[in-house]
Amino acid sequence: MTIGGWLARAVRDYADRGAAMGQIASEPRDEALYLILSTLGLPLESDPSVLGRRVSAAQSRALAEVFRRRLQEHVPAAYLTGEAWLGGLRFHVDERVLIPRSYFVEILDEQVDPWLRDPGSVASAADICTGSGCLAILLARHFRAARVDAVDVSAAALEVAALNVRRHRLSRRVFPVQGDLLASGTRGPYDVILSNPPYEPSAHVDRLPEEFRREPRLALDGGPDGLDLVRRLIAQAGRRLRPHGILMIEVGGGREAFEREFGHLEPHWFHTADGSDCVCLLQAARLRSRQPRARS
Ligand SMILES: C[S@@+](CC[C@H](N)C(=O)[O-])C[C@H]1O[C@@H](n2cnc3c(N)ncnc32)[C@H](O)[C@@H]1O
Repeated sequence: MTIGGWLARAVRDYADRGAAMGQIASEPRDEALYLILSTLGLPLESDPSVLGRRVSAAQSRALAEVFRRRLQEHVPAAYLTGEAWLGGLRFHVDERVLIPRSYFVEILDEQVDPWLRDPGSVASAADICTGSGCLAILLARHFRAARVDAVDVSAAALEVAALNVRRHRLSRRVFPVQGDLLASGTRGPYDVILSNPPYEPSAHVDRLPEEFRREPRLALDGGPDGLDLVRRLIAQAGRRLRPHGILMIEVGGGREAFEREFGHLEPHWFHTADGSDCVCLLQAARLRSRQPRARS
């Protein structure tokens, strides 16, 4: 069989098996081609003529095994290859961490600087709930003078973050820290804090497709309404930011509930290409001056 033949078969199997998408690709064809090229050790940027190349018997066995694990065992493609991409950067990933897909990648380079007095002099930043460390690394590359604390409660996730920090040669500026949000171990005060915390309501996590349930539950489950960690982070952050600092949080589908509870902090919602606009910014001054309202 040719690579093109394998691709056509895989795309049919993705449909037949109802494979869940959205972890590294939204289209089965893109993901299947990626898995084929990666399994055969071919460059991901191979030109279309590669589809006509014949596959040996040994290579066919390897492909059959990869698609068996992906489509019958529902192992996410990124865990099969051990890599994922965000903002054009490659990160090691495995079952210890969420597969990087944060909306922050759309926001950091284009929309954040206007909220800072002097973006070039940002000296101190934190990525709370760092997982693979992907956002801490993107932060450090955006704010080139900053030291960045990469905080996670999971020691296993921090091992992955530390590996990625080393691979991106940022060990002098990005520091994996084990801690419960901002409660311990972190330094500060920070100019910038960002967080992509677990924000799925617990009941949703139970209903996610198996591919997503293979990610750490600790990375997904945000409590009964998804806002458990958001609430605690907002309560802590005012004291840990510099006076003109900013806190940015991704809340997924939780915007309405967030607005009900924290609207008085006047969140700014960043624009994202799919219109979900699920990342907001809060200013230190407002976090400090306005006590959270009691929940009704
Ligand atoms: C949604 S994942 C985000 C990972 C990464 N920042 C990204 O965008 O791909 C959330 C992460 O929060 C971590 N986490 C959960 N509870 C935490 C807590 N109380 N304090 C710090 N980190 C926590 C999980 O271990 C997980 O790595």
